[in-house]
Amino acid sequence: MKNYMENVVVIDHPLVQHKLTLMRDKNTGTKDFRMLLNELSTLMAYEVTRDLPMEEVDIETPVASMRARVLAGRKLGIVPILRAGLGMVDGMAEGVMELIPAAKVGHIGLYRDPETLKPVSYYCKLPGDTSERDMIVVDPMLATGGSAAEGIRIVKEAGCKTVRLMCLVAAPEGIEMLHKLHPDVVIYTAAVDSHLNDHGYIVPGLGDAGDRIFGTK
Ligand code: PRP
Ligand code: URA
Repeated sequence: MKNYMENVVVIDHPLVQHKLTLMRDKNTGTKDFRMLLNELSTLMAYEVTRDLPMEEVDIETPVASMRARVLAGRKLGIVPILRAGLGMVDGMAEGVMELIPAAKVGHIGLYRDPETLKPVSYYCKLPGDTSERDMIVVDPMLATGGSAAEGIRIVKEAGCKTVRLMCLVAAPEGIEMLHKLHPDVVIYTAAVDSHLNDHGYIVPGLGDAGDRIFGTK
């Protein structure tokens, strides 16, 4: 297991962990679940973009001249995997798109077949210039890893060279699969849980993220 963790960044900031615990609680209703996911996505966006390239420019403060750092202007994109990934877009947008207004949002529609647990694709719309962008694929749950791996494959097929994955809860099985299929992709997550149950749900996890976001249970 150890080397599968090479490309995993666990965001253990107290605010992130506190909000994740509230989301895991089965008594947390849809409205609060959505709000917490939104807030967590904003907090996590700062970590996911921590290594964005910078450059120096000359500026004048009211007191003196100085050289100061600004974003080097690398093009970014966010790609939610539908449906649950949609719940992370507004929060990401507050964290990233206000700072980087040129960031674009693509969408990939995948659902997991309940029998086979394999991802089934039903929608894809990516920015035309995906090959020039660094893409952040977002989906709260990394369970078997099938959906994230397929989403990342689609983004790479469109020419993207640098892909990050941002999720909330990851299972060791999903991390292992992603590491095998996409060893270049760094996974940012708030937690690595114990295992998957017989239905492919993360234990202890937080249940079905899509149903909890959209109230469809
Ligand atoms: C959930 C989740 C991931 C996927 C994770 O989506 O949002 O996309 O399952 O499971 P995996 O790692 O085993 O592929 P789901 O298929 O329930 O669809 P939904 O978001 O439309 O509810
Ligand atoms: N999808 C979810 O929404 N939750 C899980 O635990 C696994 C897959």
